[in-house]
Amino acid sequence: MKTILITGGAGFIGSHVIRRMVNLSPDTRILNLDQLTYAGNLENLKDIENLPNYQFIRGDITDTAFLEKLFGDEEIDGVIHLAAESHVDRSIADPMAFINTNIIGTVNLLNSCRRSWKDMNGKLFYHISTDEVYGSLGKDGLFTEETAYDPRSPYSASKASSDHLVRAYHHTYGLPVVLSNCSNNYGPNQFPEKLIPLAIHNILHMKPIPVYGKGENIRDWLYVEDHASAIELIFQKGVHGRTYNIGGLNEWTNIDLIRLLCQIMDERLERVPGTSEKLITFVKDRAGHDLRYAIDSTRIEKELNWKPSLTFERGLALTVDWYLKHKAWMENVTSGAYQSYYKTQYEER
Ligand code: NAD
Ligand code: TYD
Repeated sequence: MKTILITGGAGFIGSHVIRRMVNLSPDTRILNLDQLTYAGNLENLKDIENLPNYQFIRGDITDTAFLEKLFGDEEIDGVIHLAAESHVDRSIADPMAFINTNIIGTVNLLNSCRRSWKDMNGKLFYHISTDEVYGSLGKDGLFTEETAYDPRSPYSASKASSDHLVRAYHHTYGLPVVLSNCSNNYGPNQFPEKLIPLAIHNILHMKPIPVYGKGENIRDWLYVEDHASAIELIFQKGVHGRTYNIGGLNEWTNIDLIRLLCQIMDERLERVPGTSEKLITFVKDRAGHDLRYAIDSTRIEKELNWKPSLTFERGLALTVDWYLKHKAWMENVTSGAYQSYYKTQYEER
């Protein structure tokens, strides 16, 4: 039986990847290594926690002694590395945690694999990254796998750094690796510091929806389940040493996205049309705010036959319905530390 270590599996994307893999591959043991920071939540995995091929391990990827013991105790065949500090605004407020987890934590994992994989045959280190490493686009063009790196926030710089280190371990030590760089994800279980769940939460509570600057920044949105299906495919069939860009060909300005979300929320909450839009509040822009991200996913579409399965309207409606059905999940994650986070980020804006 193969053993796959998934890091960051209690987070947003990781929980969807784990659910998919434990169900689709009952003959594979899935170990979920997660520190359970503010972003990690075992509630995300309640429905699969008792499956025989799933095991949760609490641990920190910056802790080398812990990793050494784990890789000594377990025979790990593959790693899907999602654990990270993932929010741009937090990286602007305090970059160090991003340097520690995203760069040093990634190198620690690479070292553990290198040390324990005497025979590299059948082994794979899969690094999950972001399109933000490519920088910011103007009105035209798309990021391809050949686009030069130009990270502009502490978050994207830390992810770019980890991408380079993963490739360096491939070239220098022959470690079998694959990488993917994905656009903005949305869907169930996303922590409400990111735009879509934050807006859903505020609309529900009739609180102002903070839109940075003029709301003209553009993101390419992909439903999290479509990202999870791409990750599974790349893990099974990706060419070692290769990078795959993953995107939804689904570009929205923030303001248009928020307006669509307000319409869906008005319908679902049976509010008078236009009620939620009145909550839109333009606030001070993010420092160094990247204007536009957009992905060319030709490689994964052609080579691995992947494509997104949902329209944005459908994905957004599914997302809203999930949050409305899981109000207790939202209340749990927005009590306590979230309140002071929100105050610090938004009170003075
Ligand atoms: P998330 O913040 O929801 O989850 C991150 C998880 O990592 C949490 O469960 C947290 O507890 C865990 N973690 C953090 N530090 C850790 C440490 N030191 N040791 C062990 N575990 C630790 O993030 P997400 O949105 O699910 O993103 C997952 C990955 O995908 C990240 O690598 C991110 O850069 C990448 N990514 C995210 C997006 C997106 O839109 N969210 C898009 C492209 C790529
Ligand atoms: P976010 O969800 O933080 O993802 P990223 O910064 O990784 O793209 O933000 C998405 C877009 O929404 C980005 O252009 C910043 C903007 N934004 C707001 O306008 N208001 C908010 O409160 C947040 C969190 C984001």
